[in-house]
Amino acid sequence: MKEEDLVYGFGEAVRGINKRGFSYESFCLDDDMHTEQKHSLYGAHNFFMVSGEESFGVFVDYPGRVRFDVGETVSSKFMIIVEEFCFDLYIIEAPTMKEINREFRKLIGRSYIPPKWAFGYQQSRWSYKSEEEVREVATHFREKHIPIDAIYLDIDYMDHFKDFTVSNTNFPNLQQLIEELKQQRINLVPIIDAGVKMEEGYSVYEEGIRNGYFCTDENGEPFVAGVWPGKVHFPDVLNPDARTWFGSQYKSLYDMGIEGFWNDMNEPAMFYSLDGIAQLIESIENVKGKNLDMDTFFQMKDKFANMMNNLTDYQSFYHNVNGVRIRHDKVHNLYGFNMTRAAKEVFDNNYPEKRILLFSRASYIGMHRYAGIWTGDNRSWWSQLLLNIQMMPALNMCGFLYSGADIGGFGDNTTEELIIRWMQFGIFTPLMRNHSAAGTRRQEPYAWEKIDVIRKIIGIRYGLIPYLYSEYMKAVLNNEMLFYPLAFEYPDDSRARGVENQLMVGESIMIAPMYIQNARGRYVYLPEDMLLVRLKSVKEREYSMYKKGDHYIDVPLDEVVLFVRKNHIFFLGNEAESVPELDSENLEIIAWADEDISYQRYDDDGETKKYRASEHYSTIWVEWENNQYDIKVQKDNNTIFKHYDGQNIFHPF
Ligand code: GLC
Repeated sequence: MKEEDLVYGFGEAVRGINKRGFSYESFCLDDDMHTEQKHSLYGAHNFFMVSGEESFGVFVDYPGRVRFDVGETVSSKFMIIVEEFCFDLYIIEAPTMKEINREFRKLIGRSYIPPKWAFGYQQSRWSYKSEEEVREVATHFREKHIPIDAIYLDIDYMDHFKDFTVSNTNFPNLQQLIEELKQQRINLVPIIDAGVKMEEGYSVYEEGIRNGYFCTDENGEPFVAGVWPGKVHFPDVLNPDARTWFGSQYKSLYDMGIEGFWNDMNEPAMFYSLDGIAQLIESIENVKGKNLDMDTFFQMKDKFANMMNNLTDYQSFYHNVNGVRIRHDKVHNLYGFNMTRAAKEVFDNNYPEKRILLFSRASYIGMHRYAGIWTGDNRSWWSQLLLNIQMMPALNMCGFLYSGADIGGFGDNTTEELIIRWMQFGIFTPLMRNHSAAGTRRQEPYAWEKIDVIRKIIGIRYGLIPYLYSEYMKAVLNNEMLFYPLAFEYPDDSRARGVENQLMVGESIMIAPMYIQNARGRYVYLPEDMLLVRLKSVKEREYSMYKKGDHYIDVPLDEVVLFVRKNHIFFLGNEAESVPELDSENLEIIAWADEDISYQRYDDDGETKKYRASEHYSTIWVEWENNQYDIKVQKDNNTIFKHYDGQNIFHPF
């Protein structure tokens, strides 16, 4: 690599937008500490792009462990180490980063499209433990007029953490709850875990055993791992029959009215294996009553630490793919992929007209066709907000457009300021979900003193949906990214190439999120003239025009700021409390123009699937005539002139 080369990609990975100077390992891992020294997270995304004198993209299609040393060992050397010599290597050449990515995306297929309600605000917690608690959450939102479209059910809705069961004691009438919430325009989204509890009489377990649908150990017996319910078997989702069988289990919840699912622990995560536990106990017994010195103490400590997600365990079970026995570690990165595919294939075959929300924790390149992802168990730390910001373009490069992080942070206690700043960024991510771990401080919007500020931020999200949805759908249908680094838009601007804390969002806007505690402003680099829009709420807005260059911008805690590119059209919708209440016709057009400009808008009913129909497209024109602006909207050869009150469009002179 030359000094000036930049490297982008690797999807879900730690550190900045430019990946140089560290190494990344593709091996899906359940790890809730997304700190700088980590080489792997939950997703395995073997794709990167180099921008320099020669620009190109590389995809290493290999489902086992791959290591990318991007100048960590030797700063000028990029090394790719694949565990076995059986992989497909794609080298993609095109003149620009955007085009390289488009070519790659064409290769891997179209990204997943969720129902439109999944662009609404979503509230989660590990766990809302009973019907009453879920109702209470819904009531808080609706009574306090905080917009919301979904509430999540974490593992406690199940009977003893058994997939596709519902606890009789805590959720005695789930179906009624689903219907009740639907009337309030709130969707319930249950979690599904990879491991199936071993328990006589539990139908999923018994069917799996009867048909040989579980992964097996060395001796051909179903492999045993420990997860939430204690001992589990892993459905062999790489085996086509087992995959269809596992996917068809989702139907029982769908039939009750559930329209969204999140797949978890599908790296697959393992607390322990039987061998691992046996060895641990033996080693403890060996040291019983002995004087533990440095070596023996730390050896024992490491044994505990290494029990979870242990490589030896991943090497000790097998898949059966069309009669061929394959050791798990060689195809490890395809497990979450296939668990998610299982659900998606069954949905597509059984409910072909229906869009169903689906996202997963583990993933591999290509899974973006079936579902979105969330970025797993982050922490309520400011550095994790920055990581979320820097990760979004990398996820988009790999086709994962429907994605987002646990807003506010999952582990540890969040603070009011952190959740506010995180929400101010989260309003731009397609998946906007507030989720937190058991035992942490409550972080629902109504848990805070500044509830009004948070309500308005979420309100701004709904105002953004017409633009976000349009940009999302165009990105999916044209193989574009929704979030991209400034360098992709301004490749010849050497300053833009180095920007790590601002992002382009779709074709018209740039954001410069706040991610530092107590900061009430920041420097922003504008690669071109831009119109700054300050929003206290969808309706309370102020504008100022800025020239290309560096500017210090005040960002009080109760304001969202964004930048509209000159001669680009941006628009806001109304302040709805749920997606079905959005008025998609009456938009406020915002622009700073010194020429006639236009924007191609995509919109649809958010439910059906005829994405390519021409009726979904319209063109918005802003034209300067007779010393005033006209706004025209053109759809299906009809042109509608809109009354324009002159407040949001700016002329440079
Ligand atoms: C995992 C998930 C997290 C969930 C928890 C309990 O840690 O990543 O989102 O809340 O399991 O199901």
